[in-house]
Amino acid sequence: MKLNIFSLLLPLAAISANAEDIVISTDNTGLVFNVADDGRLYQKYFGKRLANPADYAQLPNGPEAYITNGMEDYFEPALHINHADGNKSTLLTYTGHKRSTLADGSQQTVISLTDKEYGDNVDLYFIAYPEEDIIKTYTEITNGEKKPIQLEKYASSLLHFNRDHYYLTQYNGDWIAEVQPSETELKFGKKELDTKLGTRANMFVSPFFQVALDTPAQENAGEVLVGTLGWTGNFRYTLEVDNLGRLRVISGINPYASAYTLQKGEKFTTPEFIFTLSGNGKGEASRNFHDWARKYQVHKGMDDRMTLLNNWEATYFDFNEDKLIELIKGAKELGVDMFLLDDGWFANKYPRHSDTQGLGDWDETADKLPNGIGRLTEEAKKQGVKFGLWIEPEMVNPKSELYEQHKDWVITLPNRDEYYFRNQLVLDLANPKVQDYVFGVVDKLMTKYPDIAFFKWDCNSPITNIYSNYEKDQNHLYVDYVRGLYNVLDRIQAKYPDLRMMMCSGGGGRTDYEGLKYFTEFWPSDNTDPVDRLYIQWGYSQIFPVKTQCAHVTTWNKQASAKFRTDVAMMGKLGFDINLHDLSADDLKFCQNSIKEYNRLKPVILDGDQYRLVSPYDGNHTSTMFVGKNKKQGVVFAFDIFPKNVEHLTNVKMQGLDPKATYNVKEICKSDASSSEVGNYSGDYLMTVGLPMFTTGRMSSRIYELSAR
Ligand code: DGJ
Repeated sequence: MKLNIFSLLLPLAAISANAEDIVISTDNTGLVFNVADDGRLYQKYFGKRLANPADYAQLPNGPEAYITNGMEDYFEPALHINHADGNKSTLLTYTGHKRSTLADGSQQTVISLTDKEYGDNVDLYFIAYPEEDIIKTYTEITNGEKKPIQLEKYASSLLHFNRDHYYLTQYNGDWIAEVQPSETELKFGKKELDTKLGTRANMFVSPFFQVALDTPAQENAGEVLVGTLGWTGNFRYTLEVDNLGRLRVISGINPYASAYTLQKGEKFTTPEFIFTLSGNGKGEASRNFHDWARKYQVHKGMDDRMTLLNNWEATYFDFNEDKLIELIKGAKELGVDMFLLDDGWFANKYPRHSDTQGLGDWDETADKLPNGIGRLTEEAKKQGVKFGLWIEPEMVNPKSELYEQHKDWVITLPNRDEYYFRNQLVLDLANPKVQDYVFGVVDKLMTKYPDIAFFKWDCNSPITNIYSNYEKDQNHLYVDYVRGLYNVLDRIQAKYPDLRMMMCSGGGGRTDYEGLKYFTEFWPSDNTDPVDRLYIQWGYSQIFPVKTQCAHVTTWNKQASAKFRTDVAMMGKLGFDINLHDLSADDLKFCQNSIKEYNRLKPVILDGDQYRLVSPYDGNHTSTMFVGKNKKQGVVFAFDIFPKNVEHLTNVKMQGLDPKATYNVKEICKSDASSSEVGNYSGDYLMTVGLPMFTTGRMSSRIYELSAR
């Protein structure tokens, strides 16, 4: 049943009669705070929503909600203020709370706290999305003192748990090996998941985690907290089990090298921590995130997505106008929506013939593109495909005119030798002049070539040589950099609301939900081997809808058939990064058919519910399915990775179907581009008995379409 705002407000209004309890709830989750006699705010409850809200009154208080430094607590605080007089303690008491319904229908609760001794104010924001079971939370800290104060720690969120066991699943890896899961039981002490890379923040650690309560995380059972910080920069999650076996989860900007000074009256707004508490395992938590993200967070989250042909792996830096025109024609022949020109099209004094030079000089290289980008957009128009362009506007090669002219715009240590990551340095986005310049890169291109429909915005270096010529306080650089980036992205979005962009960072170095407010999709990894992608896409799907995950068919892993490679990419936002000459005539025909089928099935794959049926981590096979929101259509992907010659194969049991409906099952996208009938089955049969979808073929795959009759 859909809840409307009024049905939600009724129970909340009933609770507010009990002045001490502040209840934040979604359809299935309750988070309850209470003000005790000492005037301080405590977390009373966090778990499955109780059917009768009055029952919350029976509960005793738990730990203090937003623990501050220097008081009675002996573990990690959420907030640490260094006051002007040298005092490091903060004591917060409740001053009031307000509820409102925001424009998007979400329910906002703001709890206000103050330190009476110093006058500093802390507002805790909670925004609940009832139907999606998502809560966003952030904090506003205001300096109420006469002199500057320093925020040494400033978490967005603190959540408390008191359970028998806690199992943390984290996702980390490296370039071309992103989002690899590992699970550990949390025992006494602290576990920190953090990043200090600044720009390319998620290269080693994905910015999300799962904590299973009482029992290890399961796909369809058990209570699991899944959380992520919306911040395109350094984050830190601290998970600490105390002497009493209680867990606190503190989430926010990484305070590493970032103690932030607030002037008198100044306010610091932390990024949003977004979480869901699923009572039915990781699968439900993922679907909560997917629904919420498409509807409320991702740029154009409910809109269609374009298939594309990218030239990066087809040409790398080695192209000219003729080659690109061929590829644009190839995009048309393949049947995709857009051609995307990647790195290597710009700079003249130091032409971008490799990644060693040219970054920062955003004019077309005359000998490669004598007629400029305009000739390419014109050809794209002629072919009836859209045109997209790669940029990396936050970065500079020392071998560039930009570096020669504006060394003061570069993050670099004034008194040490520079060291480079991919031969480049990061521009100082804390500086408003640099923000203007970065905005100008997009603005100038769009003004000159209004037919550009899409940018792939890359970011290949972490912040190195950390020093800003602009900042008065170097502690502010990591935070102000991200704020500067958002300022630029806000301006771009305001001026070019229809522009779509891919968030890319040397593979999956940037994958966060605040970034996705500006980007329609992201590049999960430079690893496009379809076998590895099965694992990588599995990892990202924990919180990101496949609509946001670009998945391209390339020539990585030539032992895998074009079908296997395409089937994997069809479980994401489909694209191709391939020279059409690398495809046989049969393969080309196969791909053309798959693109047509993908276009037809996009509403199910990109906007439906995703069910991870069989994990690639559990054996030699994997299967994922998507069910349309009305349960009338489904698409099941089944992959055999490296099975043994003789294996005990079991049926794939489906999920999310209407048990009473009868579904016609067809195998589609077969290697000869044909389809074949499998049979008619009830939803109940498909979910209880399932179908034999796996084989002992190495790197073989099948796609099944389910249609309710
Ligand atoms: C890194 C990206 O991840 C690649 O897809 C490609 O765009 C290169 N950068 C270009 O330099």
